[in-house]
Amino acid sequence: MKNKTISYITEMKDNGSKIAMLTCYDSSFAKILERADIDAILVGDSLGMVIQGKDTTIPVSMEQIIYHTQCVSSVLKETLVVADMPFLSYTSNNRAIENAERLLKEGGAHMVKLEGSDYQLEIVRYLTNRSIPVCAHLGFLPQSIHKLGGYFMAGKKTEEAEKLLLDAISLQDAGAQMLILECVPSNVAKTITKKLDIPVIGIGAGIETDGQILVLYDALGISINKIPKFSSNFLKNSNGDIFDAISKYVSAVRKKKFPELENILM
Ligand code: KIV
Repeated sequence: MKNKTISYITEMKDNGSKIAMLTCYDSSFAKILERADIDAILVGDSLGMVIQGKDTTIPVSMEQIIYHTQCVSSVLKETLVVADMPFLSYTSNNRAIENAERLLKEGGAHMVKLEGSDYQLEIVRYLTNRSIPVCAHLGFLPQSIHKLGGYFMAGKKTEEAEKLLLDAISLQDAGAQMLILECVPSNVAKTITKKLDIPVIGIGAGIETDGQILVLYDALGISINKIPKFSSNFLKNSNGDIFDAISKYVSAVRKKKFPELENILM
């Protein structure tokens, strides 16, 4: 049995093995994902949209993320569990550490994820100095949807791409041990992935990141929302067999067959 700790995942980057990650929110799916050899699971605040039917991730509460993280972590033996810090649950060092503590102690997560760039450096440093592993999240930031006014690709302009790279390096220097890049041009994601020592996991960020993540319900084509262009329905050719669909996803990521050209954002 492999123990897929953050060191194991980082070694995968070092060895050039692609990292397959999915979101998950409950025990039954968590078991299937682990059986299909997924490397890491994110209990994402996307649960607000795919589980609760909300328009955004904003309404998701701490209690809800803790509950779903417990549901996932309680049945897993070897998979890295990352839990999302909900909107405004990390606005100060104290608030961040109290909430991250709950995700690790009560939820059973191994790592927390938080969105944002240079303005989060102090919080990332504060948490990681106190042994709370952090996954940073750059590019399109779903928790900023109302400020952004919609869904956009990030890093299309040269200045934005340069800023993304600087932010990624600063977050790594502040102690982040993983980075999720969402909706970023492939060439920008490739440059960031090459420059960083920590694993970079992409969603809508092309094929050259160290790994891929999708929202589970999008990857199964059962989401109530429109399936984004960067996702793919892995259940389509699996005759309704969810284990087979997830295994196909893991294999496609490992063999660099996903994302395909049709999934690449321009
Ligand atoms: O909440 C989530 O599912 C996420 C992924 C889209 C990376 O943050």
